[in-house]
Amino acid sequence: MDKLIISGGGPLSGEVRIAGAKNAALPILAATLLADGPMTISNVPHLHDITTTMELLGRMGVHLSVDEKMHIEVNTDTIRDFYAPYELVKTMRASILVLGPLLARFGRAEVSLPGGCAIGSRPVNLHIDGLRAMGAEVEVRGGYIHASSKRLKAARLVLDVVTVTGTENLMMAAALADGETLIENAAREPEVVDLADCLNSMGARIRGAGTDLIRIEGVESLSGTNYEVMPDRIETGTYLVAAALTGGRILIRDTRPPLVDAVLHKLRESGAQIETGEDWISLDMKGGRPRSVDIHTAPYPAFPTDMQAQFMALNAVAEGVGMITETVFENRFMHVQEMQRMGADIRLEGNTAICRGVPRLNGAPVMATDLRASASLVLAGLVADGDTVVDRIYHIDRGYENIEEKLASLGARIQRMPS
Ligand code: UD1
Repeated sequence: MDKLIISGGGPLSGEVRIAGAKNAALPILAATLLADGPMTISNVPHLHDITTTMELLGRMGVHLSVDEKMHIEVNTDTIRDFYAPYELVKTMRASILVLGPLLARFGRAEVSLPGGCAIGSRPVNLHIDGLRAMGAEVEVRGGYIHASSKRLKAARLVLDVVTVTGTENLMMAAALADGETLIENAAREPEVVDLADCLNSMGARIRGAGTDLIRIEGVESLSGTNYEVMPDRIETGTYLVAAALTGGRILIRDTRPPLVDAVLHKLRESGAQIETGEDWISLDMKGGRPRSVDIHTAPYPAFPTDMQAQFMALNAVAEGVGMITETVFENRFMHVQEMQRMGADIRLEGNTAICRGVPRLNGAPVMATDLRASASLVLAGLVADGDTVVDRIYHIDRGYENIEEKLASLGARIQRMPS
């Protein structure tokens, strides 16, 4: 398994171009299952999770072609299986996103249950309950969700918990259902809006995406379209934090500043000077040490759980004491122990991490068990004396395009060591 070696150094400085959003590209690739006729998706990031999704669709018999710019053309006319096997779903929970589209268009689906993962139990009960409310017969047996239905029927769906992929799965299913479906307490994440925009350009009738009440008037069929995926707000935030915690300066291109409002707010609080334009963000720490910030994660538009670990790295070397409370996932502090091994002064009390910043960390061999935690350890390595070796970086490759090249272009000393 590849490793990354980071030799801590000085401030980062330079420019980075942001890729398309992983968490928008994944549901949009699943949405191609709803289209009669070919569909082209552009600004798709070059990531493992995208390859996994392509493999998943390919195994169903879907025809895919991809060019060197990651334009993916998908044609579902050749589909023959409606099946998502455990061996793929276990590597990427977002595979569950094929359930709604398969059921809505083909009337059947067999999708492995994702099971637990490093950041908590992460059930999919709300996906299943919603589809049942729309008239599907769903049975869980042998670790698989077996679902079948005639044409789905519209329903009023009230989600107990705000779930991003749950909202997306049900929105896709409702797009072809008979009548008007309401999703209440829907996730408001920008990726939900991007998916709704894509579905609408395929001929769907969806209103209210981006609010907590989404109305979907089902249509008989959807057609292929060309769609460009939105920029990745978590990649944007991660590079901003990388520059901030090293006391550096950065220009982020091909992004959308409103997507990262909550993150920019915290970075300003920590001492960053930030300017924004339509598709760029500049951050300058003027060589200074960041100040600690308090963070409380919650669904969008609040502070994203996917940026929590990166801010832990920032607080680890910031001036003062910062408290980070994680409210979305039950067990998302796996990076804390590793940072402690690098000399960070962090104490855990339930779902809150209290961190007293130290001026520098010490390099150490570390390992992470989820995507954002791995990224946070790379950031910690940038401000550690000596070498930090981050093991199991396949997690990073699931969600960050060329992370070592992008960081190296900013002046970081980082190399990939193949195993
Ligand atoms: C998505 C993102 C992930 C992000 C997360 C929260 C994708 C591919 N992944 O994950 O990067 O960290 O949103 O912003 O978009 N829950 C239930 N029952 C369900 C579904 C969810 O109880 O049926 C709970 C979960 O256990 C969790 C909370 O709801 O505590 C939020 O999870 P959810 O929004 O569903 O996360 P994902 O969509 O899996």
